[in-house]
Amino acid sequence: MDWSRHRVLVTGAAGFIASHTCQALLARGATVIGLDDFDAYYPRPFKERTLAEIRKTPGADDRFAFVEADICDATAMNQLFSDEQLTGVIHLAARAGVRPSLEQPKRYAQVNLEGTTILMEAARRANVKRFIMASSSSVYGNNEKVPFAETDDVSSPISPYAASKRACELMGHVFHHLYDMEIACLRFFTVFGPRQRPDLAIAKFIEIIRRDQTIPMFGDGTTSRDYTYIDDIVAGVVASYEKVPDYGYRIWNLGGNDPVNLKEMIATIGRVLGKEPRVEQREMQAGDVSRTYADLTRSTAELGYKPTTSFEEGVRRQWNWAREHLAG
Ligand SMILES: NC(=O)c1ccc[n+]([C@@H]2O[C@H](COP(=O)([O-])OP(=O)(O)OC[C@H]3O[C@@H](n4cnc5c(N)ncnc54)[C@H](O)[C@@H]3O)[C@@H](O)[C@H]2O)c1
Repeated sequence: MDWSRHRVLVTGAAGFIASHTCQALLARGATVIGLDDFDAYYPRPFKERTLAEIRKTPGADDRFAFVEADICDATAMNQLFSDEQLTGVIHLAARAGVRPSLEQPKRYAQVNLEGTTILMEAARRANVKRFIMASSSSVYGNNEKVPFAETDDVSSPISPYAASKRACELMGHVFHHLYDMEIACLRFFTVFGPRQRPDLAIAKFIEIIRRDQTIPMFGDGTTSRDYTYIDDIVAGVVASYEKVPDYGYRIWNLGGNDPVNLKEMIATIGRVLGKEPRVEQREMQAGDVSRTYADLTRSTAELGYKPTTSFEEGVRRQWNWAREHLAG
C-alpha cells in the first residue's frame, strides 16, 4: 500500500497506543492528524510528554498535525471531517480501564459509544469509508472456553467498559451494513510497553517495586492475562488498516499468544528491576475477568499478525523507558 497517499485521523493521539500508532504511520510516509482532548483520566503532563515524543518522529514536522478536541462534540467532528481530506480513521480514543467504569458507567457509555457513533457519522457524511476502532478482550467476559476466538459468544460482558466496547462493535456493523463503510474492530489484549497508561498493572508495579513499596495483589495470583507488546499491537493496527477493504466489516483479536499469571508477572518485573517484590494479597476486584487468552488464527491468516516480543523482553523495554522518562 502506498501510505504517502493516506491522510489518517488518529484519535486518542496523546494516549499510549495511539501515540505509537501515529509514529508508525509517519514512518510509513502517511500524513497524520492526531486528536485528543487530554481527558483527566490520567494527568495531562504525561500526555503532553507523549505528544512531544510524536513530534520528534522523523517526518512529523511536515506530516503531523494535532487537534485538541472532544470526540463527543459532533459539531467539531463534522467540521474536522469537512476541513480535512481524510482517507481513513484509526479511532483509539476512549475511556479505558475496567475498574473505574463501575463508578462512572454513564461517562463510559458517553465517551465510548456516543463518541464512536459521532465519529462514524462524521466519517459517513464526509464519505470516509475506512474506519478502524479499538475494542477489547474484555468483551469475552468470563467465557470458559480458551483461547478466545472472534466467533465465540460475547453476550455476557461483566463491566460497563466491556459492554461499551461490544456496543461499539455492534454500531460499527450498523454503519457497515447501511453505508458500506469498511469497519475493523480490534480486540486488544492487555497492551504494555513504553508510555503505557500509568493506571495499568505493569506500569504501576514497576513504580511500586522501584520504590520498595508493597504491591496489592488482587486475588490469589492465578488470574492471567495475554499481555501484548505495543510494537506487536501497532503492527496489527497498521495491517488492519491495509486489509479492511477486503472484508467490509471484520473483528480481529490482537493478543500476545502467551498468557502470564499475576504471580509470574510480578516475579518477572522483580527480575528485570533486580529487586524482590513485596506482595500483599487482597480480595479479587469486581468487574475483573479471571483470564484472557487470544486465539490468533484469524488475525494471523488474514493480517499476517504474529507477535514477536516476549513478555520479559517487553517488560525490560518498558522499564528502560520508565527509568529514563519518569521521575524516580
Ligand atoms: N491498553 C490496553 O491494554 C487496552 C486493551 C484493550 C483495549 N484498549 C483500547 O485501546 C484504546 C487506547 O487505549 P490506551 O491504553 O492507549 O489508553 P489511553 O488512555 O492512554 O489513550 C486514550 C486517549 O483518548 C483520549 N480521550 C479520552 N476521551 C476522549 C474524548 N472524549 N475525546 C478525545 N480524546 C479522548 C485520552 O485523553 C487519551 O489520551 C482505547 O480505546 C482502549 O479502550 C486498550
